[in-house]
Amino acid sequence: MIELKNKIYYVGVNDRNKSLFEGLWPLPSGVTYNSYLIDDDKVCLIDSVEVDFFSQFIESLHEVLGDRKIDYLVVNHMEPDHSGSIKLLRKYYPDIQVIGNKKSFDLLSGFYGVDDNHLEVKHGDTLELGHHTLKFFMTPMVHWPETMMTLDVTDHVLFSGDAFGCFGALNGGLLDSDINTEWAWLEMTRYYSNIVGKYGTPVQNALKKLAGEQIDYICSTHGPVWHEYADRVVSLYDRMSKYETEPGLVICYGTMYGNTERMAECIARAASQAGVKNIMVYNVSKTHHSYILRDIFRYRGLIVGAPTYNNGLYHEMDVLLQEIANRDIKNHYIGWFGSYGWASKAVQKIGEWNEQHIHFDVVGEPVEMKQALTEETKEKCRALGRAMAEKLRG
Ligand code: FEO
Repeated sequence: MIELKNKIYYVGVNDRNKSLFEGLWPLPSGVTYNSYLIDDDKVCLIDSVEVDFFSQFIESLHEVLGDRKIDYLVVNHMEPDHSGSIKLLRKYYPDIQVIGNKKSFDLLSGFYGVDDNHLEVKHGDTLELGHHTLKFFMTPMVHWPETMMTLDVTDHVLFSGDAFGCFGALNGGLLDSDINTEWAWLEMTRYYSNIVGKYGTPVQNALKKLAGEQIDYICSTHGPVWHEYADRVVSLYDRMSKYETEPGLVICYGTMYGNTERMAECIARAASQAGVKNIMVYNVSKTHHSYILRDIFRYRGLIVGAPTYNNGLYHEMDVLLQEIANRDIKNHYIGWFGSYGWASKAVQKIGEWNEQHIHFDVVGEPVEMKQALTEETKEKCRALGRAMAEKLRG
């Protein structure tokens, strides 16, 4: 338990054991499930934690409250990493009133069979706790339909749900000004690009709704509390949700025996020689796609390449391309390359994917290699690297 300010307490937990968030996204440094308790005339809990951590959670609540009851539980988000403790909380605090919106209550009923003691709020509604007054903002599809945010308008503390969150457990400190936040920026980008990234327009809508409000603290459900860097965090979300990028290039490839990989190396070298400083080269079978997607969100240039496999596209690349398309990523330049042993398919498949799904701005000529690199194919790879560099410089 940590007091943030004026009897707003952090009562969240670290999860250092889970390997994959949502069963999909690697957690090399763990993750937090953040919950906050406002101890006022009316006691209000904001979000809860994954149920496996309930004993630790209830201990923190007792540490603040002793035997006093909790009046309200605000459910900003119903995904089970934050709602998983609701049924148990109701056993400890049978009178607790759950605050949410129409959609949250539908999910609450479906996930946990909880159908009573609700207090439904709408966009702009307020609730007096005593010293603190809460104001509710409906922010649907950031990243579930029921997602909302709660602003303490007295102390200007925003409880933002998953928005502005990042992967990574907390190592003792909670507030950004008390810790080295270097790790958090990339992990915030990876969290955003993998989990929220599809919903750029809803994120923009949410930011517009919050635009006129004074926000001094951002309390997300994952990662540090943002105070010193609150403006930077909002600005990062603004840029990512507009699919704005920096000059830079991601080259990702699939390879079976290293031949296609050599094409990637050749392209990367040419792009570097032509002046591109930010170049990330990834083997899609080696690096988890979540990191590649993170960098695709960061950098404007993308070059993908893979072998033909089973008369189609190499599986890992096929999956990555689906993941890119699924996030409706915009504002990118694309080039591509591919290889085959006896029947050409990969280059065609990547071209069809771009034409049918993603519509990135095509740069240079796709390069196709039969079996192994020749001097002629190498020169085509270099030309592709140079063409991308020219676009990025422009
Ligand atoms: Fe942290 Fe969408 O759950």
